[in-house]
Amino acid sequence: MGILRRMHRALLVVLSLVLLSACGGQGNEATDLWENSVIRLANERGKLIIATEPTFRPFEWKNESDELVGFDIDLARMIGKELGVEVEFLSAAFTSLIPALVGGKADLIMSGMTATTERALTVSYTDPYFHTITCLLVSTSRAADVRSIADLNKAGRVIAVKEGTTGHFAAKRHCPNAKIVTTELENDAANEVAQGKADAFLYDLWSIRQHNKNHPDTTRVITTPVSREPYAIACRKGDPESIAWLNLVLRTMRLDGRLQELYEKYGLEDVR
Ligand code: ARG
Repeated sequence: MGILRRMHRALLVVLSLVLLSACGGQGNEATDLWENSVIRLANERGKLIIATEPTFRPFEWKNESDELVGFDIDLARMIGKELGVEVEFLSAAFTSLIPALVGGKADLIMSGMTATTERALTVSYTDPYFHTITCLLVSTSRAADVRSIADLNKAGRVIAVKEGTTGHFAAKRHCPNAKIVTTELENDAANEVAQGKADAFLYDLWSIRQHNKNHPDTTRVITTPVSREPYAIACRKGDPESIAWLNLVLRTMRLDGRLQELYEKYGLEDVR
């Protein structure tokens, strides 16, 4: 075979390989989903960015040395380890977390965030990694007669909530006749109750317990569930590959006891 003919053949082989790979990358939706998934991209760049609001003990807060600590922080680092990447945290106000995720500033949200059907129209959630409730921190002076959320649904009653949280939504739903005071910081909502300016603070159980410990004389807790709160990791829409991978990691951690160990480390009880 002459040299020209051999070169011609080689060229044909190269051309058909190029064409084949181009076709493979086009219109193959399954491959595209994986190619564009947050999990694969984080793996490629060696870093996973988690948005959180660190004012929610024991899930995420800043300790005396200004370090980010808590259940979600540990869980995020364990997920980073499974992926072989470093985890970076982006701190933002709770109401800015979903915009930060949707706007691409973070890969995931881990912030004691309840997976609600309404939020799930904007972002996607993994399976829950923890289950809890919302309940009431009640003022001992103003609300001595209050036994349940129904007792608060009256003109003259004041309910403090943290803006944009599930406690806020539940207060509007259950107590349309009460005055609802929204605060940006959960400490401010707790202080309203401790100082007798509000009858109650409606929020997640583990936080409410913490605030009751901080104000044992002026507050009490009513632990009757007002709403059920499954905490889950939020991901941008259109990324089923990341959700599937994260669900597998969570299930594995549940089965091998790592999740249980984390609950115990933070004194948490998963109520399902
Ligand atoms: N679980 C509640 C919600 O999703 C409150 C979460 C507050 N989390 C935080 N890191 N501040 O609305």
